[in-house]
Amino acid sequence: MKAFALAHPNIALVKYWGKRDFAYNLPGAGSLSLTLGGLSTRTCVEFDAALDADSLQLDGKAVESGGKLKRVSQFLDLVRERAGISQHARVISENDFPTGAGLASSASGFAALALAATTAAGLELSATELSILARRGSGSAARSLFGGYVEMNDGVYAIGEDGTKVATRSAEEASKAAYARQIAPAAHWDLRCVIAVTSAGEKDIGSTEGMVSTQNTSPYYEQWIASVPGDIERAAAAVAARDFAALAEVAEASCLRMHASAMGADPGIIYWNATTVALIHAVRKARAGGLPVFFTIDAGPQVKVFCPAEALDECRALLAGTQGVRQILEAHPGEGARLCGDFVSDAAAAKDVAGD
Ligand code: DP6
Repeated sequence: MKAFALAHPNIALVKYWGKRDFAYNLPGAGSLSLTLGGLSTRTCVEFDAALDADSLQLDGKAVESGGKLKRVSQFLDLVRERAGISQHARVISENDFPTGAGLASSASGFAALALAATTAAGLELSATELSILARRGSGSAARSLFGGYVEMNDGVYAIGEDGTKVATRSAEEASKAAYARQIAPAAHWDLRCVIAVTSAGEKDIGSTEGMVSTQNTSPYYEQWIASVPGDIERAAAAVAARDFAALAEVAEASCLRMHASAMGADPGIIYWNATTVALIHAVRKARAGGLPVFFTIDAGPQVKVFCPAEALDECRALLAGTQGVRQILEAHPGEGARLCGDFVSDAAAAKDVAGD
């Protein structure tokens, strides 16, 4: 009743920002992302009848109480219910990138947790079933189950013949229809993602909280949601055609519209700092000068800059030359979540050897 899984974070090129339903964590609209190889979360789950509560160790530290443990425990309840078991679990999770700094650790975290926990519980779920389950933990996690370029459905609406959205399903039916799928494998297009870390530490307003506030108070929320289906169509076509200029246009537009909807909340949510803004301008100026680069920004101040593999060095130099950039991380199209080796014992064994 023990399993180990690895998952990569992903970055949305067309953003998910808002929820149709809280009980099932249904997104207000679809989204489209790239799974990022080079950054990983590894998670071990062990169900054990001797435990009287779930336990969580995150990046080497025990999480004794609070929101993170509760969120993991509630997710494990879904797995227990499905598997018909009642044992509590020991969860150990490690990121090889900074947690909570706007690098979507909840995406890779819940994707790895979904795969490790269902495997440890003896469930054999299809990729679609796993994606539906992972979504209950975190919307973006539904996408990290898959490698390469991934599209997430909103599950509720279809586009009618006149181009407007038509309600097609109840929330429960929709909960089974809101899942991600791969639209192109990692090898389809070797885009690189260079991440400029502009601030260390956890963000002030988590994405769930930011979304709730935006949809409850921003007059721009409905327009934002209405803009998403068209952006997904354009982004999917750009990915299929490996059309960098078209993807740059739609990805920046989606990012800016998402942030505009959040800034319109009451009180307005501003995830950016001065360096974030400086990078936006630097990227646009470089693109106007012929360098193939575009930016996207999630619920935090870090800036993710995409470029084709051959522009990587110049892209890195652009970010490194911008004042206020503290650290640069690099990622490439990655594979989907998978079972992995015993990283917990391996780390303990390595420590013993080092200690000898
Ligand atoms: C800005 O997936 O973290 O990164 O479903 O509430 O866990 P919850 O939200 P989460 O939101 C991600 C928001 C985003 C955009 C995106 O990844 O699509």
